[in-house]
Amino acid sequence: MAESYRNFHRRSIEDREGFWREQAALIEWERPFERVLDYDRPPFARWFVGGRTNLCHNAVDRHLATRAAQPALIYVSTETGAERTYTYGELHAEVNRCAAMLQALGVGKGDRVLIYMPMIPEAVFAMLATVRLGAVHSVVFGGFASHSLAARIDDARPAVMITADAGMRMGKVIAYKPLVDEALRLAQQPPKNVVIFDRGLDKSMARVAGRDVDYAELRARHMDAQVPVTWLESNEPSYILYTSGTTGRPKGVQRDTGGHAVSLIASMKHIYCGEPGETYFATSDIGWVVGHSYIVYAPLLRGMASVMYEGVPVRPDAGIWWKLVEQYKVAVMFSAPTAIRVLKKHDPAYLKKYDLSSLKHLFLAGEPLDEPTARWIADALERPVIDHYWQTETGWSILASYPGVERTPLKFASPSFPAYGYDLRLLHETSGQEVGDEEKGVVAIVPPLPPGCLTTVWGDDDRFVQTYFTSFAGKQVYSTFDWGIRDRDGYYFILGRTDDVINVAGHRLGTREIEEAVCSHANVAEVAVVGVQDKLKGQVPLAFAVAKDPSGLTTPAARKAMEQEVFDIVDQHLGAIGRPAHVLFVTLLPKTRSGKVLRRSIQALAEGRDPGDLTTLDDPAAIEQIKSAIASVTT
Ligand code: PRX
Repeated sequence: MAESYRNFHRRSIEDREGFWREQAALIEWERPFERVLDYDRPPFARWFVGGRTNLCHNAVDRHLATRAAQPALIYVSTETGAERTYTYGELHAEVNRCAAMLQALGVGKGDRVLIYMPMIPEAVFAMLATVRLGAVHSVVFGGFASHSLAARIDDARPAVMITADAGMRMGKVIAYKPLVDEALRLAQQPPKNVVIFDRGLDKSMARVAGRDVDYAELRARHMDAQVPVTWLESNEPSYILYTSGTTGRPKGVQRDTGGHAVSLIASMKHIYCGEPGETYFATSDIGWVVGHSYIVYAPLLRGMASVMYEGVPVRPDAGIWWKLVEQYKVAVMFSAPTAIRVLKKHDPAYLKKYDLSSLKHLFLAGEPLDEPTARWIADALERPVIDHYWQTETGWSILASYPGVERTPLKFASPSFPAYGYDLRLLHETSGQEVGDEEKGVVAIVPPLPPGCLTTVWGDDDRFVQTYFTSFAGKQVYSTFDWGIRDRDGYYFILGRTDDVINVAGHRLGTREIEEAVCSHANVAEVAVVGVQDKLKGQVPLAFAVAKDPSGLTTPAARKAMEQEVFDIVDQHLGAIGRPAHVLFVTLLPKTRSGKVLRRSIQALAEGRDPGDLTTLDDPAAIEQIKSAIASVTT
């Protein structure tokens, strides 16, 4: 009889080493590991110690013997009209060329390569080429602007950067190169070389002699390159991915090599039920963790074909994704609730127009999945729609249903159960005691974290420990900073963040980062940014600003003009994804007597809820100002 998910989970916790030894056999090791787990220095976990492997070998080379002529990467751009399938053999050739190019620019083991690219195959070649060389990639989402990019350059200190002339969205060219030039001007230690893939979208692109290198020209010199993989000890880093927290300084989530590979291939088998030779379609972007894990690594490690899609879900019409499902016989799809809410506004007939018989299930993650959206898509697809919950930090599911082990019934709005490998608890916010069923608590993980989770914060072990493992006095447990609740049947529900991180259309942003950008306006003295509920995007940022000199802001037109200036600054610093829905001007912010801004109360008022306990409020007039500012945009 098949093993129950409960037993599978129990085994993963009670016999950690046996369980993960079994999973580790899913990948190839150049040298076997000596120890499954080294947990001698909590909370730092080292998995598969002494084993040597390589991600690129497992994602590409390994499949050549059996599937060289089978599709590996299916590229579709509804922005440029490009459509091209790379077989495993072709992917191998392109990755070797790119690896030789990087090598020619001096990249070697341990060096960082910063990838700032739109959704084009060369971004995937660059990621795989980097790990082939034993180097470390840091992909920065193409929607981030120059200040964000510069901060990441300064933290990762890349040897080389790879970019493109432009991206494209909704038919509009978005030039990348001016942002890159500006970021390199701002950076303290810019890389010596920038490789530019010229898509021919931005004809006015300028090049810096001696620094900028043309991708196509360099590639032409390495057409027959065969670059041997650099074997890495399992715990050596494979990549850095920056993510937002409560400070203005993003954290470099560091991933290892062996644990990363094992966790992703195992998740493809047990959670997504993706089989070798099938097609997987994750609608995310390579700049986010979902893109890393489920556009690139997991499908390729498993020998699947992965669809890489540049475009929006509703162009040329709202049937485009389903058309791709039919055309490429997609077996498993992964998307985000916001995308489904966007599709829900369109004619449901689009879902009936195509043959979706290849599709086994749709997975959704990244933000809370509301029940009406879940029902709508499940009814339309007539397939299981599986909500699962995880974070950039973990790299794969924390909560999920795992139909590859047991098909457990799904409950709407619940990402089901703790994934195998996670000793999950719901803890009381202050006492740190476990809460009971139907009681709200903080979702916490008793370490060691399973394979694939972050191993540290890049260059800052202390920050790793301080940020994630010190939320509960006297207990070293990992905090997800999410509220959760478990029902009597053991199903979990996620209730939102405990910190100042917000989730805009599935994109994670720190309100602090937005505040810092807003504050760089010459006439802003202080600002509070909160995330407020939005029907489409889940949340949107809303800014309450105190002007240094409010005398010029007496008319609505003057306030609008300054709001626009603030928008422009946020666009330049962070990118348009961080732009607040409104900037509302007040003369003081509600604070406690000790000077802490009452963000939760502001957020509650903006969402039409009770502001909660205001006994510590310093000046009640501040709350009245917030109320009338909100009324000015809601009435
Ligand atoms: O608040 C949770 C929310 O997104 C956060 C992680 O975002 P990110 O690091 O971008 O990783 C996304 C990986 C899918 C979480 O702390 N979140 C993620 N999935 C869900 C969710 N909230 C509710 N339900 C989910 N399924």
